[in-house]
Order: sequence, then C-alpha cells, then structure tokens
Amino acid sequence: MIHNYWINLYGIDAKYTIRDITPDELPLLIDDIRSDKLQGCNITVPHKETVIRLLDHIDEAARQTGSVNTIYKSNSKVVGTSTDGEGFIAHLLGNYRQFQVEGSKVVLLGAGGAARSILGAFIAGSAGSIAVVNRTPERAMEVASLAPQTAHAATMRELDILASTAQIVINTTSLGTGGNGEFPFPMELAAPDCIFADIVYVPLKTPFLAHAEAIGRPTLDGLGMLLHQAVRGFELWFDVRPEVTDDLRALIEKDIPRHA
Ligand code: ATR
Repeated sequence: MIHNYWINLYGIDAKYTIRDITPDELPLLIDDIRSDKLQGCNITVPHKETVIRLLDHIDEAARQTGSVNTIYKSNSKVVGTSTDGEGFIAHLLGNYRQFQVEGSKVVLLGAGGAARSILGAFIAGSAGSIAVVNRTPERAMEVASLAPQTAHAATMRELDILASTAQIVINTTSLGTGGNGEFPFPMELAAPDCIFADIVYVPLKTPFLAHAEAIGRPTLDGLGMLLHQAVRGFELWFDVRPEVTDDLRALIEKDIPRHA
C-alpha cells in the first residue's frame, strides 16, 4: 500500500506486489533483479539474513545489522541494505524535532534484527550511550558488541538506574504484538520528557505505549518507522525521494485493524 501510493502519486509505470517464496526460490528472485525484470524488492522473515550470500554487495547498514530488508541494483550490482534504523530516526525527529541524537542516552529493549538496525542508526548519529536489555542476556551482549565504545548489555536488575537517566526507551521486542504483553520497564522512574517508543504497530497503541501515555510520558508509535523505512527503498528503486504525509499515514492507519 505504501509503495503503490507513491507509485501512483509520481505516475511511475510500476507495481509493488507481494510474493511468498521458499528458500529455493530466493536465487530466482535475485536473478530477476539482475536481469532488470524487477526494479528491486523488500525482503522479510525468514530470508533477511540468508539472502546476503546471493548479493554482490551489502552496505554498512546491512553489514552492521547482519540482515537486509531492501535490495536494489546499482552499477550493474545487486546490493542489499537495511533501512529500518534510518526510518526510526526520521520518524523520531519528525515527531520530536528538538531531540538530539548526538550524545543521547538510549535504552534498547530487545536484541533481534530491529534492535541491531536501530542501534546502528544511533551509532551513526553519535549517540552518547546505548544500553541493550534482553530476556536472553547473551543476545544483548552480541548486539552491544557491534559498538563496544558506546553500547553495553545491561541486566534486568539495572533497569531502575537506566530509567532515571534515559532520554529514549525503545521496545524492539515482539511483546505487545496483538495487544499482548509489555516489557517490564519502570517507566515511572524516567524523566518527564523521556520518550517511550515502540516498533510494534499492530495495535498502534501497544500496552507499552498506553502505559507511557497514562503516566504522561511522550510516545512514538511503530507505524512511523514502517513508513519512513520505505522512503529510502523507494528512492533507491525510482530515484525520487518520497514524503511520508498525513494522507499516507491515515491510509495505512485505517488498514491496521485488518491485520490485528
Ligand atoms: P526481530 O528481528 O524482528 O527484531 P527477533 O530476532 O525474533 O525479531 O527478536 C525478537 C525480540 O523480542 C528478542 O529480543 C526476543 O528476546 P529473546 O532474544 O530473549 O528471544 C524478544 N522477545 C520475544 N518474546 C519475548 C517475551 N515473551 N519476553 C521478553 N522478550 C521477548
């Protein structure tokens, strides 16, 4: 819906469609991009990591996250990138213009692919410190080790201290999907202007965001990251940088209940 909205808006002769493919079919998809049958594609679960070996090149964002969500052709090479981190930051700054990424104190809840992407974008923006907290501590250590100067793995016992200094707390776990579960973070101890962000967008108001809102903290929902991560992909495929408008957001927001 997002890409077809922009395709229509710019009068481009193209169509964004969904393909359900098996691991065996993945090389054929890449061949279609190589031979210009396809302009490019997005890649999702479970192919985000395995597709890398089929590509000619991956950029720094994909290297850091170890996964690819967008594939395009550049100078006859099939290239993979990861646009989630950039999308998150664009969404954050679109909503909280005054937020300074440089020097910021960040708490990342979760240690999957999304956490890696967001960590990468905060590192690129010279964040001050990033604490990674995860149910499985080993995975938090692995993610933090991507940027050992700035990031560290923190335990659940350190949450009170982290809460009191954090400027943004981001839920990258799947908790809250379908309205179920909330990462047990002591929000009440956070400063009044600490932002609580979620990357889950079904529902739009997760229990985590509802809790933050109920105690008067600023929030950032997950739909914005989805919309903004698409900007870069569209630009790489069609050489036009599209905008995330209120109109587009309203269109996608209306569609969310269908996925609940
Ligand atoms: P993605 O690539 O989309 O980020 P993922 O790699 O499956 O997805 O990561 C999901 C994240 O949600 C992980 O941090 C996971 O914690 P574990 O590493 O301990 O598995 C977290 N998560 C999922 N269910 C959870 C739960 N019930 N409680 C706490 N964390 C949970």
